[in-house]
Amino acid sequence: MMIFGKVAYPVSKMFEVPPAWKKIDFSELRGTISVIGAPDTGKSTFIQYLYQNLRAHNRLTAILDSDPGQSSLGPPAALTLIIEKFSSGEEPQRLTLRSFIGSTTPVGHLLNMVVSVSRLARAAQQAGAEVVLHDTCGFIDVRRGGLALKLAQIDLLMPNCVYAIQRADEMEPLLVPLRRSRRTKVIDIQAAPAARRRSHPVRQAHRARRFADYFGKAGVLQIDWNQLAVFPYPGFSLHRLAALEDDQGFALNLGIIIGIDQEARRLTLLTPQQSLKQVRTLHLGDLEVNIKTFQDRLSPLAHA
Ligand SMILES: Nc1ncnc2c1ncn2[C@@H]1O[C@H](COP(=O)(O)OP(=O)(O)OP(=O)(O)O)[C@@H](O)[C@H]1O
Ligand SMILES: [Mg+2]
Repeated sequence: MMIFGKVAYPVSKMFEVPPAWKKIDFSELRGTISVIGAPDTGKSTFIQYLYQNLRAHNRLTAILDSDPGQSSLGPPAALTLIIEKFSSGEEPQRLTLRSFIGSTTPVGHLLNMVVSVSRLARAAQQAGAEVVLHDTCGFIDVRRGGLALKLAQIDLLMPNCVYAIQRADEMEPLLVPLRRSRRTKVIDIQAAPAARRRSHPVRQAHRARRFADYFGKAGVLQIDWNQLAVFPYPGFSLHRLAALEDDQGFALNLGIIIGIDQEARRLTLLTPQQSLKQVRTLHLGDLEVNIKTFQDRLSPLAHA
């Protein structure tokens, strides 16, 4: 389902533009462009710079935010695609689509990460995006699957180029084989001196702000769970984060369980979703989200 709505631009901040960024020829950029790097190297800021310039060049540009932790475009635990349409004399219109991961880390969710990126990339292509800016998470730990995830995403999306942002040589275990494989063009960029490392509490607070923004206008929705497919199985607990998905697996909206009636087989959700008309699946995540502070923590049912 592709509905273009009014545009609310991502928060645009002033940022330092290093010389390497200034050399980019925006008329040359097309297809998928992936940006990879360790945490806090400035990937999302660089994506924002590319996006602003591509918009100024009137290119039909999409951003695929594939970071379920420090999301820049929507609530954490989901991947978000935005694509904007411009037509002369009219206000730009934006399409937003999400795919639910249910966790703020790809660990334990690598298959879903790849499927979700694929689902959103296909939607960007169907919507006619000329350029897809693919933002990635900073998860680059080889032993825990970080390398496999990056390679799988590159094989899937076949980006025209990969911008690799490094402070030193921390990405080389991934980049050496990637350069030799010639699967894509790797462009090296030094992390901007202004890129700041964020502590664990700062990252947690960022996620809580994102959830608070997302659930700010949420209402209450009751669902009869016998009417829906429930993934992975109907194990409910208060404050568990879930997604209401359509028949193609896109997350129509996220919700937090605030009531469970076992007898009536009914759940009450805090969610911006107003109707169950298009909802086919309730996809339960690994997280609990506090409805006052919007801080998240692992649900005791996550690995049950
Ligand atoms: N060029 C820049 N000018 C000013 N500030 C920057 C610049 N690049 C990064 N920063 C700041 O550094 C911090 C980290 O940047 P950013 O969020 O872009 O990194 P990231 O690599 O996307 O991080 P993550 O791995 O968590 O997604 C942010 O506070 C951001 O505002
Ligand atoms: Mg980022």
